[in-house]
Amino acid sequence: MKIAVLAGDGIGPEITAEAVRVLQALAAGGPKLELEHAPVGGAGYDAAGDPLPEATVKLCERSDAILFGSVGGPKYDALPRARRPEQGLLRLRKHFDLFANLRPATVFPELAHASTLKPEVVAGLDLLILRELTGDIYFGQPRGVRTNENGEREGFDTMRYTESEIRRIAELAFETARRRSRRVCSVDKANVLETTQFWRDVVTEVHGRYRDVELSHMYVDNAAMQLVRNPKQFDVIVTGNMFGDILSDEASMLTGSIGMLPSASLNARGFGLYEPIHGSAPDIAGKGVANPLATILSAALLLRHSLQQEAAAQRVEAAVRKVLAQGYRTADIAEPGKRTVGTREMGDAVLAAL
Ligand code: IPM
Ligand code: MG
Repeated sequence: MKIAVLAGDGIGPEITAEAVRVLQALAAGGPKLELEHAPVGGAGYDAAGDPLPEATVKLCERSDAILFGSVGGPKYDALPRARRPEQGLLRLRKHFDLFANLRPATVFPELAHASTLKPEVVAGLDLLILRELTGDIYFGQPRGVRTNENGEREGFDTMRYTESEIRRIAELAFETARRRSRRVCSVDKANVLETTQFWRDVVTEVHGRYRDVELSHMYVDNAAMQLVRNPKQFDVIVTGNMFGDILSDEASMLTGSIGMLPSASLNARGFGLYEPIHGSAPDIAGKGVANPLATILSAALLLRHSLQQEAAAQRVEAAVRKVLAQGYRTADIAEPGKRTVGTREMGDAVLAAL
């Protein structure tokens, strides 16, 4: 099986290298994996003048899954939007129709104290944010900056969702909840936005075929508050692209650090892109201190969802739990009395635990 490795920018290459070592270690004794690297984001722009070079797309098309690091950096901020690193990621999501973004937020018992919230609020947390990833205001047209009828400049974007886009993510939310605690909370802003009132109506219709699953609706502002007040009330949260972007960053802090959250972005065929939910962290790039665990856990999701290697996925997750239990901590989850290590040493510890 072939995996396209797109490390990207900032800390991307450092954290991806550790996940690659984990995959290689697994391949040595089990599933045959072939890994091939290609540039994306700022690295793609540097290499080919495009954040998503044609050769990178071709590699992904020949692959069974994509392991992705992170993109972006101050060096590229002044580029025209179409050339910015983030476009590499957004175009990949669209190209492969990766509409379903799974962002599980689980609290490892060892890290309950690393959260900025009280341990009793987060201990035992196991929630899944299912974020729609190819629609919404992220992709809606028209968009831009224009001079309006009063001669004033104005910026505008368009929030839109088609019925089929809402249906397929809602169906997946209910299917997924059936394998969990059978509760779906759909997050919207139906009190203000037409698009999300429509979202609520369609999710409610789809629910008609999933009566065994409990459905609730919540406004996004309330959801943001409930996530820090009592996050354990949630099982599956299903929401649109932009609300999901924001709520998943918030949810990551429940788990101790944004450096802990993996994600899977899947299309209807099960082809997927796997990436940590965090960004390229330019401030610590190249220093060897970034937490590679979100990327290593993303590799576990890759094994599970794209390669059907459930046993291997569980081995990786167990190894991560073990290194945390052994007291290894990167700077973002450092605790007094524990051993603070760098990116490579954390990777070494996971390999040893494997
Ligand atoms: C994420 C990121 C991306 C997004 C950026 C890098 C385009 O924040 O995956 O959450 O907004 O979707
Ligand atoms: Mg984000």
